[in-house]
Amino acid sequence: MKRIAVLISGSGSNLQALIDCPHLKGEIVFVASNRASAFGLHRAEQAGIETAVIPSSQSHILLQKLQSLNIDLIVLAGYLAIVPESITRVYKHRIINIHPSLIPAFCGKHFYGHHVHQAVYDSGVKFTGATTHFVDEGIDTGLIIDQRIVPIDNEDTVMCIAQKVLAMEHSLLVNTVQMFCEDKIKIMNNKVIMEN
Ligand code: GRF
Repeated sequence: MKRIAVLISGSGSNLQALIDCPHLKGEIVFVASNRASAFGLHRAEQAGIETAVIPSSQSHILLQKLQSLNIDLIVLAGYLAIVPESITRVYKHRIINIHPSLIPAFCGKHFYGHHVHQAVYDSGVKFTGATTHFVDEGIDTGLIIDQRIVPIDNEDTVMCIAQKVLAMEHSLLVNTVQMFCEDKIKIMNNKVIMEN
């Protein structure tokens, strides 16, 4: 059973989707937030999962904790801090992020939360979506693992887009984590292959 740590900064609805997954082949053993106000900490406590508040300036403490818990997979679920190279190097291809757009569109510095959906709305694109990817030392630049598309309707507001994408994120993230836990995610020629 893979041992999973989830890093959050806010509501934690993606974390909740993982907690609620009945047949997840991994165990969430630790949830850390860089913000004490993150509601996701409450979600984890309600599920009996160990939590901690670790400021992003204390990444050495985070690394020590992850290693002491023998973590196999780190999931960034709305984690609004940069994971330093001291951690991405140790957990290469074992850190998964969920981003609320179809990378490489609408991603990178400043593209987080509602900023993403506002930019999508303003651009007039007809589809948006969500992406899971491995985390490297960049921002939203690691290998893409999987994506789901979300059509944009004429009457959609920015809030509608955000809500549709968030719902899609939950199923995408659960599926990606499940595939990782079942060792069905392979990397060939610097691309991710999902075994069926
Ligand atoms: C999600 O939109 C995710 O894609 C982004 O931050 C948001 C987190 O939402 N990285 P929640 O905290 O999981 O509800």
